[in-house]
Amino acid sequence: MSKNPKTLKPTPAPNTAPPEAPAQPTPWAYSEQVKAHFLEPKNFLMGDESQFDFNAKGTVGNKICGDEMTMYLKIAQGKIQDIRWRTYGCASAIASTSALSELAKGQALDAALKITPEQIADYLGGLPERKFHCSVLGSEALAEAVDAYRNPK
Ligand code: FES
Repeated sequence: MSKNPKTLKPTPAPNTAPPEAPAQPTPWAYSEQVKAHFLEPKNFLMGDESQFDFNAKGTVGNKICGDEMTMYLKIAQGKIQDIRWRTYGCASAIASTSALSELAKGQALDAALKITPEQIADYLGGLPERKFHCSVLGSEALAEAVDAYRNPK
């Protein structure tokens, strides 16, 4: 059945309104140090764990965001001789753990365990308040690795 052209609805004209002005770019809420550690994380484990000679390993997860962190330590004479880590984590967790790894390398175990989120944030030139919790993920993985080293199963 053919349609009567008089009853056809007109096709709406294409939207010719000018496009909305582009939104202002969101300002970068992080310091340059955070940006640098995020883009080029220090002591990040490339490849699988067979690429690093470690004798302690700890993995933790954040139940709220689902991020996960694994820390690998080479411990000798009670000190962290070397350190690697990897994560399924956010930018803040990456930058924070990169900073933590630099702060902890060469430290005695107990000294490394005392590195606070505030020290990590200071090292990074600050972290946004709502991202502060991300700086804890690396510290928790480090504590887990030290515990595994001290209490082998
Ligand atoms: S949002 Fe999960 S560690 Fe940052």
